[in-house]
Amino acid sequence: MLRSALLNVMIAAARKAARSLTRDFREVEHLQVSVKGPGNFVSSADHRAEKILREELAKARPGYGFLGEECGHQEGPDKTHTWIVDPLDGTTNFLHGIPQFCVSIGLEREGMIVAGVIYNPIADELFTGERGKGAFLNDQRLRVAARRQLAEAVFACGLPHRGRGDLALFHKEFAAVQDKVAGLRRFGSAALDLAWVAAGRVDGYWERNLSPWDMAAGLLLVREAGGFVSDVNGSDAMMTSHSIVAGNDTMHQELLKLLNGAN
Ligand code: IPD
Ligand code: CA
Ligand code: CA
Repeated sequence: MLRSALLNVMIAAARKAARSLTRDFREVEHLQVSVKGPGNFVSSADHRAEKILREELAKARPGYGFLGEECGHQEGPDKTHTWIVDPLDGTTNFLHGIPQFCVSIGLEREGMIVAGVIYNPIADELFTGERGKGAFLNDQRLRVAARRQLAEAVFACGLPHRGRGDLALFHKEFAAVQDKVAGLRRFGSAALDLAWVAAGRVDGYWERNLSPWDMAAGLLLVREAGGFVSDVNGSDAMMTSHSIVAGNDTMHQELLKLLNGAN
């Protein structure tokens, strides 16, 4: 498979950061049994991975801006491009030795996400996509699932963190959706949830209280796999409303209806 120079830059950076995360994850698995636990260690693993990403991406594209979960927004001389990066998405999983986490890199050009790379190093699954050129898992082209019946659908979702988000609202939404679908899952990595919608593993996904780095790469993958993405109001304002709903055209619409009917 022939990949663009841009994707190769993103993939190389993701793999390098992921090598560091994988080493640290092995250590975390050992630390589970220690009394102090792996908390501080995980936070430095996160920072180490972001530093690698910042350096690698800046080496290849020195002018681009950088928005990372750990170091915030750094503008570059090129105001039209910004990397939107989560060095470790699925921190709670990582902390508990659960192998569902990833590195996520999106590229925004003039307000639009044009490329995305999501890498789960434990499964060695590399999700890539570029605007207009499709989405891939390793070398395989991705399509969202074709299911049209809610009763057959499995959706992923995110739970509000303790002290953050509206738990009562989530319970209403969860109940409304659960009543209609075959299954609901909470995997713990928003970026992988979106990659899995793109891969057709789940039929849809919704979550509130997300940040741009949770969604940037994944939303591009879903769209490039033929799926639909919006915020919970059905608009394109995911980055500012902090919510996302994804699926094929039917599942996306059905999910929006259920969520809006639940409030
Ligand atoms: C979190 C994960 C999780 C989602 C949270 C995010 P983090 O990101 O994506 O699935 O439910 O809202 O904050 O903290 O692991 O990078
Ligand atoms: Ca995240
Ligand atoms: Ca993170």
